[in-house]
Amino acid sequence: MKITLEPWTEDLKQDLIHICNTVDRTYLTNRLPDPYTEESADWWLNMVREKDGTEGLFRAIVADGRVVGNITVECFTDVYGQDAEIGYLLTPACESKGIMTEATRQFCELVFDTLNLRRITSKVCVPNIASWRVLEKNGFQQEGLIRQGFVKNGQVYDYKIMGKLKE
Ligand SMILES: CC(C)(COP(=O)(O)OP(=O)(O)OC[C@H]1O[C@@H](n2cnc3c(N)ncnc32)[C@H](O)[C@@H]1OP(=O)(O)O)[C@@H](O)C(=O)NCCC(=O)NCCS
Repeated sequence: MKITLEPWTEDLKQDLIHICNTVDRTYLTNRLPDPYTEESADWWLNMVREKDGTEGLFRAIVADGRVVGNITVECFTDVYGQDAEIGYLLTPACESKGIMTEATRQFCELVFDTLNLRRITSKVCVPNIASWRVLEKNGFQQEGLIRQGFVKNGQVYDYKIMGKLKE
């Protein structure tokens, strides 16, 4: 399967809406609007236009020509400004095919080549095994464990802080 990363454009809006309305939200924060509407997509694509390449990097994941997911980093600010948080999601029909492992490999290279960062950070709920495997296979190490720090729909989860250094 051929995996590539493409900049988000207006043309991909319906793909974005489809992905965000089908993704498994169990371990996602509530920042992702539910339902994900045209307005949600317009707001997000506008934010991407303003910040891409300076305050973050935002890419569509394309598998054999189809847009199947989203992968982003958003830079922290002030003294944390050479660190950024990575996030990703995939439409469920495409899970467990190695897509995010490959997308993350390509994306981390692009991020370190494009932005002035020393590291990339991720927060991953402990039961989200697929996600921390993706990170581990891409050289992220566990740096901390935040106990009971993630509460969603009445469920309480521990989460891992994972980090990858540029060197
Ligand atoms: C988490 C997610 C990004 C993983 O992407 P993916 O393309 O399915 O992952 P990959 O196919 O590259 O597989 C990653 C690893 O997890 C394993 N895995 C996949 N699903 C699993 C599951 N349900 N339970 C345990 N391991 C699983 C795979 O076997 C693989 O590990 P391996 O190489 O040791 O066999 C995707 O499932 C997703 O979008 N989930 C919903 C949104 C989300 O949770 N995002 C992350 C928030 S931190």
